[in-house]
Amino acid sequence: MDERINQIASLANISAYDAEGTRNYIDGAPHIKHASLRQLYGQLVVNVFDRAKKYVDKPVVLDLGAGEGSVTLPFLELGAKVVAIDISETQLEALSKRCERFGDNLEVRCEDINDALKDKGAKYDIIVVNSFLHHVPDFLGMIQECAALLNPHGQFFSFQDPLRYDTLSKSTNAFCRLSYLSWRLMKGDVVGGLKRRWRRARGVFLPDSAHDNTEYHVVRNGVDQIAICDLLRREQFDCELVSYFSTQSSLFQPIGSALGMKNTFGLIAQKQSPN
Ligand SMILES: C[S@@+](CC[C@H](N)C(=O)[O-])C[C@H]1O[C@@H](n2cnc3c(N)ncnc32)[C@H](O)[C@@H]1O
Repeated sequence: MDERINQIASLANISAYDAEGTRNYIDGAPHIKHASLRQLYGQLVVNVFDRAKKYVDKPVVLDLGAGEGSVTLPFLELGAKVVAIDISETQLEALSKRCERFGDNLEVRCEDINDALKDKGAKYDIIVVNSFLHHVPDFLGMIQECAALLNPHGQFFSFQDPLRYDTLSKSTNAFCRLSYLSWRLMKGDVVGGLKRRWRRARGVFLPDSAHDNTEYHVVRNGVDQIAICDLLRREQFDCELVSYFSTQSSLFQPIGSALGMKNTFGLIAQKQSPN
């Protein structure tokens, strides 16, 4: 993929996660806002961490697009050493404050992951990308680079990305649109939002629009879970895909979950290693 597209998306993310974006973040982050999703994430973190502990005493975690720290915290609480990377200074200020008590177990780096992943020297036991793949235009290229940075038995762990939209049923798609709309109507700039949606529905994306480039794949076709699993299996990883329902709306979240709808995924992929 053209390197400039990654750069444009990176710049859009810096401006989106300014002080106001960071303050408003949790309201638009279902995996932090809803207790049921926090619980699911917490359980997966424990599974990933326990598996890593079979091979090393103190797992080293690379958290890409770490954000304001809510999802970094569980790894630190379990006793991991975490390198947290994000392109937004304000997000990282919040993270540093939230995770201050973990001292040397936490290293915080304000950096574009497209640069950070060029350092092939460091190796990790776990690479976590939480609510992040959809921000990266070339997420397959990024995952390939991550695979090369993992220790033997290392794990790639992603959570909270939209399943590729054309793999959802029509009823799930309709329910997701309705639940998003019910939340979005309360957030202002409704006319602007509707216009953007109409434009994108016609396949028109603007290279200079921060709206189109921040949550890159959310506004296109979701994140291709099938291509990710295919790629990691080719790289000799065992993959476990976890699909679940997620929406910003507090009203629709329990309804969608109870109906067994699935629009979002997490992935735990462990590198197979010869003994
Ligand atoms: C939706 S937030 C997720 C934050 C956190 N992982 C979570 O789950 O709450 C996406 C984060 O990715 C960061 N980000 C986006 N593009 C990036 C890039 N190219 N390099 C580093 N961080 C990036 C943003 O600044 C933002 O903090």
